[in-house]
Amino acid sequence: MTSSARTNSTAEVFEAAASSYDRTGVSFFEPLGAELVRRASIRPGDRILDVGCGRGAVLFPAATATGPTGHVTGIDLAPTMVTLTAEDAARIGLTHVDVRVGDAQQPGFPPATFDVVLAGMVVFLLPAPEQALRAYGRLLRPAGRLAVSTLGAQDPAFIAAMNALAAHLPADQPRPAPASDPFADEPAIRSTMTAAGLDVTAIGEHRVVSRFRDVDHWLEWMWSHGGRALLRHIPTDRLPAATAAAARALEHARAVDGGLSLTTEVRITVAMPR
Ligand SMILES: C[S@@+](CC[C@H](N)C(=O)[O-])C[C@H]1O[C@@H](n2cnc3c(N)ncnc32)[C@H](O)[C@@H]1O
Repeated sequence: MTSSARTNSTAEVFEAAASSYDRTGVSFFEPLGAELVRRASIRPGDRILDVGCGRGAVLFPAATATGPTGHVTGIDLAPTMVTLTAEDAARIGLTHVDVRVGDAQQPGFPPATFDVVLAGMVVFLLPAPEQALRAYGRLLRPAGRLAVSTLGAQDPAFIAAMNALAAHLPADQPRPAPASDPFADEPAIRSTMTAAGLDVTAIGEHRVVSRFRDVDHWLEWMWSHGGRALLRHIPTDRLPAATAAAARALEHARAVDGGLSLTTEVRITVAMPR
């Protein structure tokens, strides 16, 4: 897949997911966004760029941290994400926030515009993450910080369920296995940041526990985010068998209250331009 085809396909997935994204009653993006903002050490008055802002899991706590003397700009490729997040910001009366359609791969702002660039759960979706990180470095003012969250270890039951779904993809559909992941582990993250002209000041892990009423609730959540990229390629007539296979895998995530509980590890990296 070319990089522009990959960008279009990612944007399509999130455009289709936007109305339910982070709105299925599952604790996942919200606590991760809050933690990313906490580790970015934002000060009142800071000017912030939030790339791939989605429905504002990072943007809203960032706006609280800057206060009205600061400013937060959110960009996202999916127009409906932008519209809904801008509406939410207006509804709660945030006047120091603007949300617009923009590409996290090449954010078009003048150099040294921001004190902090935030990228919550997005850099691994970009066609050329290292170049994007280099671009974020150029957007930072002196002493500016970049804070990025990326996936760490996933719950074994989640991996098994994803594999169970992937087994029902048509034979000609590429399996969701990246050849090399520039954020696979701490050494990989450090080397990606270094190659992008950034010095890592901290890498920390954060765990989030997500609870689901049942398998249908888990599926609803999967359709509401990047999981949709896999689900949409499973032929409709194979979905019941795929779902049944995923359900069997998710039995390992059964909690005492009868629901499902999945733990996801995320790495939060803070870096500064060299
Ligand atoms: C997994 S979501 C994360 C959203 C938000 N940061 C959060 O933590 O909930 C990824 C978001 O990045 C957006 N996105 C993906 N590729 C993008 C790109 N090249 N430029 C801007 N946004 C992009 C998607 O539309 C989606 O809203």
